[in-house]
Amino acid sequence: MKHNDILAAMISPLCSWYEKNKRVLPWRENRDPYRVWVSEIMLQQTRVEAALPYYLRFLEALPTVEALAEAPMEQLLKLWEGLGYYSRVKNMQKAAITVVEQYGGAFPADRKLLSGLSGIGEYTAGAIASIAFNLPEPAVDGNVLRVVARLTDDDTDIMLPAFKKEVQAELAEVYPLASDCGDLTQAIMELGALICIPGGVPKCDICPLAHLCIARKEGREQALPVRNVKKDKKLLKRTVFVMEYEGKLALTKRPETGVLAGMWEFPTVEGHISLKKTDEVLCAMGECESVSKLTTHRHVFTHLIWDMQCFYVVPKKKSEDFFWVTPEELEKSIALPSAMQPFFQAFLEQKQS
Ligand code: ADE
Repeated sequence: MKHNDILAAMISPLCSWYEKNKRVLPWRENRDPYRVWVSEIMLQQTRVEAALPYYLRFLEALPTVEALAEAPMEQLLKLWEGLGYYSRVKNMQKAAITVVEQYGGAFPADRKLLSGLSGIGEYTAGAIASIAFNLPEPAVDGNVLRVVARLTDDDTDIMLPAFKKEVQAELAEVYPLASDCGDLTQAIMELGALICIPGGVPKCDICPLAHLCIARKEGREQALPVRNVKKDKKLLKRTVFVMEYEGKLALTKRPETGVLAGMWEFPTVEGHISLKKTDEVLCAMGECESVSKLTTHRHVFTHLIWDMQCFYVVPKKKSEDFFWVTPEELEKSIALPSAMQPFFQAFLEQKQS
C-alpha cells in the first residue's frame, strides 16, 4: 500500500475512535479560533496536563482577542511565567493586534492569511484552519510525524523538513474524506498522545489503526520513528546574585534580543566566580556586607544549557543600576523566568529557616 492508501484508510476508524475516546479538554468546548489558537501555542511547548492551568488562567484573564491585543506586557509575561519561550506570547499579542486592526477582530478562515500572522507557522495555521474552520488543512507536528512514520513503516528521518512537507501534502489529499477536519486533526494528535506514544512501548493492542499499521506488522513500531541526534548544546557557566537590600531584591532586564529577550533576571555574570571574588565583580555597588552560597541550578534551553551557581549577597548600599522589588511584588506581578525560579525559591526557604 502507498502512504496515501493507508492514510485514506485510517480516517474512518481513527475518527470513530476519537469520538469515543477523546479527552474532555477546555479548548474542545467550542471552536472559537481564539481559544484554539491559544491552546495550540501552549501545546507546542507543554504537555496537555501541564498546559491546563495556564490555559484556564490565560482565558480567564484575556477571554478575547481584543483583550489580548490590549493587555500590558507585564501581565502577558506573568500569565506565561513557567511556560518558557516568552517570544511566543509577545508574538501572540502582535498577531492579536493585527486580527483586531486588519480583520475587525475575526480570525481569517484561510490558511495563508493565518500563517501571515505573527508567530503562526505552518503547524498552527493548519490547526486553526482545520479545528476552528473545518478546512481540509492538516497540522503536522512531531506526534503526527511519528504516527505516519509508524503506520507507513517509513524510516526517513522525521526531522528532515522534506519528510514533513511530504506528510503535509499527503494528508492534505485525504483530509477532504473526513466529515469533520477539526476532529481529524485532533484525532491524529490524540492517537499520538494516548496510543502511538513516543518512547516506551506504543499501545498497539488497543490501537484503532493496528490492522493498517505496517510497522506493527513488521515488528518495527519501537524502532520508528527515526530521528537524527541533535547537535550538542552549548554549555554556559553563569554566576547569579540574589541581592537583598532592606527587604528588596535586585533585578536587571536582559537584552531585547537573544535568550529570554527583555525578561527580568537576577544580576548575573558569565563564568563561575569564587565567593572571594564577588566584591570585585560587584564593585559598582561598593563592598558587600555579606556573601554566601545559595544554591546551583542547570537550566536546559533548546540549544543551550546554563550551568549556574548562585550567591546570596547583602550589599552595603543600594545600586541604582538595578530595579529593586519586594519578594511579594516579584511573586505577584513580575514574570521571573523558570531559569531563575530555583534561586528565588532558595531565597524564600532561607528566609523561613
Ligand atoms: N497537542 C497539540 N494540539 C492538541 C490538541 N488540540 N489537543 C490535544 N493535544 C494537542
